[in-house]
Amino acid sequence: MDDIKLVKQFMDDEIKTEVMKVLDSGYYIKGPNLKNFESSFQEYLGVKHAIGVSSGTAALFLAYNELNLNPGDEVIVPSHTFIATATPLAFFKAKPVFVDCDPDTYCMDTEDVKEKITSKTRGITPVHLYGHPVDMDSLVEIAKDKKIKIIEDCCQAHGSEYKGKKVGTLGDMGVFSFFPSKSMTVGGDGGMLVTNNDKFGEMLSVKRDHGRTTKYENENLGLNFRLSEIQCVIGKIQLKHLPAWIEKRREIVQFYNNILKNYSNVKIPVEKEWAKCGYYVYTIQIENRDKFIDYFKEKKIQTGVYYPIPVHRQPIIERIYGKQPSLPITEGIVDKIVSLPLSPLLTEEELNRIKIEIINYMER
Ligand SMILES: Cc1ncc(COP(=O)(O)O)c(C=O)c1O
Repeated sequence: MDDIKLVKQFMDDEIKTEVMKVLDSGYYIKGPNLKNFESSFQEYLGVKHAIGVSSGTAALFLAYNELNLNPGDEVIVPSHTFIATATPLAFFKAKPVFVDCDPDTYCMDTEDVKEKITSKTRGITPVHLYGHPVDMDSLVEIAKDKKIKIIEDCCQAHGSEYKGKKVGTLGDMGVFSFFPSKSMTVGGDGGMLVTNNDKFGEMLSVKRDHGRTTKYENENLGLNFRLSEIQCVIGKIQLKHLPAWIEKRREIVQFYNNILKNYSNVKIPVEKEWAKCGYYVYTIQIENRDKFIDYFKEKKIQTGVYYPIPVHRQPIIERIYGKQPSLPITEGIVDKIVSLPLSPLLTEEELNRIKIEIINYMER
């Protein structure tokens, strides 16, 4: 019996054919596929600028770079996220100010954001975690009139919607990742920056390519964060499938919810009435989480924990910024959360195997 994987990779003949064409073309960077992928992504989100970059982390680095941060400036981030939401700030000697999470959506607690605004706050980075959008209206209200920029970390939220609008389009800049486990991928690392702000759009595009304005002229400080032609051709094909994949993900979430809602010792995902989740992962809370993981491992069903160590408790954060204040909700959930396999490519047979094992475990 094969393992049921936590995530699955999509590959088809169209991708293979188009990748071969790029290989034969001899153009591997800055070619037509980058432009095509960027304009398709732009159109999909309904945003003015989309800029392909080498990873979600690179996108966050470039977005923070646009804030012209001075040493000691603060950016408010959740702690319950992947570490890359916060670590690029250290390169600018800026300080991540960690906020707690909402116990239902796992996203940043916007009330805690309000309390942590200071005269040094220059940015807020809402992370649409697991695909659930952050309550953006309250953040926009907080940032209003205060020269605070909002950078949406959409690395887990391709196609998720907040009040009918795609995430990434609601703040000043939006950041996406195409890391191989994400809801759409590019055959390696990759990322996308999006913005409706023309100045940011132009600068981000220039600075991901050494800050050059012409081939030999560099007016801005940039680095090489380019996305390759092969990855762009894969991304463009995957983007075409994304809307159907999201619907399939939502169906699988419903399938799991229908099984798990019967057990009082399990907290199933909550989708707020203003949200349409793209569901990157299916995460529940359960007592004795590690026993649950061991059981599924024995049954050859992979599970994941996103994330076992809160970012404000990571050694590197404590080394740079010192011991951080406690965040009780975040610290309370990290030993209870666990994610089940979620992919539009899961077969009916695999889903039934998982269903049987959930019931066996719960009723053992
Ligand atoms: C919330 C979040 N932010 C940032 C990143 C970083 O993206 P990447 O792995 O493409 O650098 C990820 C992805 O792993 C993520 O999940």
